[in-house]
Amino acid sequence: MSIISDDKDIKEIKKADKNVNIKPETIEYDKNFENTIRPKTFETYIGQSALKETLKISIEAAKKRELPLDHLLFYGPPGLGKTTLAGVIAEQMGVDIKITSAPALERPRDIIGILMSLKGGEILFIDEIHRLNRVAEEILYPAMEDFSLDMTTGKAQTVKTLRLPLPKFTLIGATTKAGALSGPLRDRFGIIHRLEFYTEDELTQVVKRTSSILDIAITEEGAKAIARRSRGTPRIANRLVKRVSDYALVKNNGKITEDIANKSLDILNIDDIGLDTTDRNLLKLIIEKFNGGPVGIETLAAALGEDVRTLEDVSEPYLLQIGFLQRTPRGRKVSPAACKHLGYKNFSEQQSLF
Ligand SMILES: Nc1ncnc2c1ncn2[C@@H]1O[C@H](COP(=O)(O)OP(=O)(O)OP(=O)(O)O)[C@@H](O)[C@H]1O
Ligand SMILES: [Mg+2]
Repeated sequence: MSIISDDKDIKEIKKADKNVNIKPETIEYDKNFENTIRPKTFETYIGQSALKETLKISIEAAKKRELPLDHLLFYGPPGLGKTTLAGVIAEQMGVDIKITSAPALERPRDIIGILMSLKGGEILFIDEIHRLNRVAEEILYPAMEDFSLDMTTGKAQTVKTLRLPLPKFTLIGATTKAGALSGPLRDRFGIIHRLEFYTEDELTQVVKRTSSILDIAITEEGAKAIARRSRGTPRIANRLVKRVSDYALVKNNGKITEDIANKSLDILNIDDIGLDTTDRNLLKLIIEKFNGGPVGIETLAAALGEDVRTLEDVSEPYLLQIGFLQRTPRGRKVSPAACKHLGYKNFSEQQSLF
């Protein structure tokens, strides 16, 4: 992976960008957009300060010992910067990173192939690591523990186990569901860290940084307005910058002010604390049809026509974080704060809203 050393290269990126015919609707644009704005260093990776400090020390120590970094596991909701952080670590260690994801490692030869292709010190990043199958996991255990690959050859009585040495490498696993990881796999990671939702101030910095890279004019208040509605998530903040900048281009010569940001986010049905239509429908459903809960997630997913995993991974974490939703052994419940936010004075007034 070629690693760009951030801000000093922003001018280069901008120059390169000018040569690309960017059409906002195309996937090409999205890929280009992701790569352009993804931080490459600890200095430009905003927030997660406790995690960054821990990592800096581990990296320093590994460099002093001339050994690879311990295996790392990052978990947390989507879009908080797990993949980005793996790239930052590779850059800081001065090593290459190979990126894959568990669903791409279905057959034993997939994982064996990638392990055998690693060079000393390299980082192997496995996304969605909770989705690894048993066979792949078992190949991974000795690889992580002893840097070796146990292969069996022959059949029945002639079966032999062959142990092949692998170069020392670092595995970085990322998952949105730490709970779904098997115990033995989790135990083989030296560092396990949860990524936290970002504060409004941190997201304001993300919005300003992205706007500056993309040459978008934005006021401090405009940046705050976008940050406030980004559900604590940098990926959402960046997506909203893109959407709001389209609106600003049509309505305000491209400049994002607080008023422009608020108007365009209203049009996108993103409310003043960042909840979107799916979030609100989920909460309203529990209030309206299930008297506030508790109700099982499968029932909710079926009623909303949504995938259980999408609800669990995307919608729920933020609603739990802000205390709008509670998980109980008998299912999900909404909180009085959620009812208040949606305009219900108490449960008996529910029907009047529809
Ligand atoms: N700390 C940060 N500072 C600035 N921008 C960030 C930060 N973390 C993430 N981003 C931006 O947010 C976007 C999403 O980050 P990333 O892809 O790393 O998330 P993720 O946690 O790997 O998500 P997923 O679980 O969906 O794989 C990236 O485009 C990146 O530019
Ligand atoms: Mg990722």
